[in-house]
Amino acid sequence: MSTSKSSISTASPPAKVHDPIKIGDITIDNRIARSSIAGITCGEFGAVSRQRLALEVNFAKGGPGLIISSHVPILANGRVLPNYAMIDHDDRIKEWADVVEAVEIAGSKFFMQLSHSGRQQDIGGVQNYHHADNRQNPPKGLAKMLTFLRKSTRINPPSPGSVPDSFHGLKGRKMTPQEMKEMAQEFVVAARRAKKAGVHGIELHSSNGYFFTQCISSAANDRTDEYGGELKNRFRFWKEVIEGIKNDPKTKDLPLIVKLSVIEDGSALKPWARKGNTVDESIQVAQWAEEAGADAIHVSAGDIFPHPLNPAGYLPTEMLRDTYAGLYTSGKNSKFNFKLLRSFPWLLRLAWERRLRKHLYPNFWNYLRGKQPDAQSPDAGWRKLEGLLTEAARQIKQNLRSSKVLVTGGWQTLGAIQAGLDRGDFDMVTGARTWMANLDAPEKIVAASKAGEKAWEPANPCSMCNRCLVAAPKHAVMCLDSTRFAGKTPEERRANMLRAGQSLYEDFA
Ligand SMILES: Cc1cc2nc3c(=O)[nH]c(=O)nc-3n(C[C@H](O)[C@H](O)[C@H](O)COP(=O)(O)O)c2cc1C
Ligand code: SF4
Repeated sequence: MSTSKSSISTASPPAKVHDPIKIGDITIDNRIARSSIAGITCGEFGAVSRQRLALEVNFAKGGPGLIISSHVPILANGRVLPNYAMIDHDDRIKEWADVVEAVEIAGSKFFMQLSHSGRQQDIGGVQNYHHADNRQNPPKGLAKMLTFLRKSTRINPPSPGSVPDSFHGLKGRKMTPQEMKEMAQEFVVAARRAKKAGVHGIELHSSNGYFFTQCISSAANDRTDEYGGELKNRFRFWKEVIEGIKNDPKTKDLPLIVKLSVIEDGSALKPWARKGNTVDESIQVAQWAEEAGADAIHVSAGDIFPHPLNPAGYLPTEMLRDTYAGLYTSGKNSKFNFKLLRSFPWLLRLAWERRLRKHLYPNFWNYLRGKQPDAQSPDAGWRKLEGLLTEAARQIKQNLRSSKVLVTGGWQTLGAIQAGLDRGDFDMVTGARTWMANLDAPEKIVAASKAGEKAWEPANPCSMCNRCLVAAPKHAVMCLDSTRFAGKTPEERRANMLRAGQSLYEDFA
């Protein structure tokens, strides 16, 4: 494994949060990006809605130099959830062009995250209705007479492997080598569409359990052909996509970020499950991605999404027991999970929060009873979760030549971000829940940095309660921690919370 250390990270003076940065040939105004986040806001058929456009613009107006879109499926059979905008055909180009233009006017660059669910299709939407229509495949002989006994069969989404994920039990249909090649080409076609829409760059949704993770992970990839087995083979699909985009005359200049679950941690929920790739393997993957043409690596974690390490935080089971219903028929374990949530929600919470117990609770007793520390206290979970993936980012950065390193996970304060930049651990941070809780935090952090201040932190930080996350399979995304909002009564606080949520989607004009 080559370990040629970046000359930039050692020779140049440490960057400041307000310094611009180049990814490929694009200059981004500061070191803060909005990481992918969205909810159910777009059309049934994948059209970009006006509300979605407003959401992206309202984030951009808060001051991050870069907006990375929420995952954008390149094909309808790779949807993760319904009502998310896609880039599956040319009709979508103009709709995305409007988003890019509006985000640029608001002051940020816009990268599109290209995605395919593979097996991790939570709720496939109308295009992937989970049960085959028996009339399309009429039974014969005895089975024809006993049609009423036939069970409907789930249509599994195309996937690199046939292993179900360890939590929901979502399973894919293992693709042939020819189909793998064609899928790589589909990503190139989608990149061309994104380019036509005028995006400033693209990010591959190559982390957190989706299609690319299912290729690269030693736990998920059960292939025995040229796309399976040793790491080099598991990287083949990645190489075909990255080189495909970088060698295509239409997309070769598009800056390209590769998001990578550096720590897969497949046994976080079930200690007996396979762990997946090690950090050393991820370093190798990042180096190969750089060789193939990636301009930046975005450090993330988790073999599935969500995962206890990302988005890190608490598990609000009282909300999840409602929203998880949509996944009831999706995976072979989802029915069991749903029943567990209904009858013994505390069990799932304990399993989920186990991995980061010491960050989330000051002692074991509070972990057992779920007593969260006050968000304003020194023990607050958000303080301990900020920059959780810094060490992983440092290891990636140290082993790359010149590609930039972005890192996600709990960033909210100037002091922590600047400390990481000073040490040369990464080049840029990305936030999703944190900037949603305080839309103008990026602007305030950048302004404080420019003014030479050493510290800035939000008066009312994101508590990492994860209510916005567990609401996502059913609802538009917004901060749903009512304790963060002003009001004398719970009703007043809830009303103010919903008002703030609505304003995220209000037109910017
Ligand atoms: C509701 C929600 C939706 C998300 N959607 C995506 C996504 O589409 N693609 C992705 O790579 N990450 C997604 N993430 C992860 C975030 O981009 C981010 O990496 C993570 O939440 C950690 O950052 P934070 O602590 O600032 O929230 C999502 C997170 C949330 C809460
Ligand atoms: S609901 Fe609000 S406070 Fe809770 S994690 Fe989401 S943004 Fe943060």
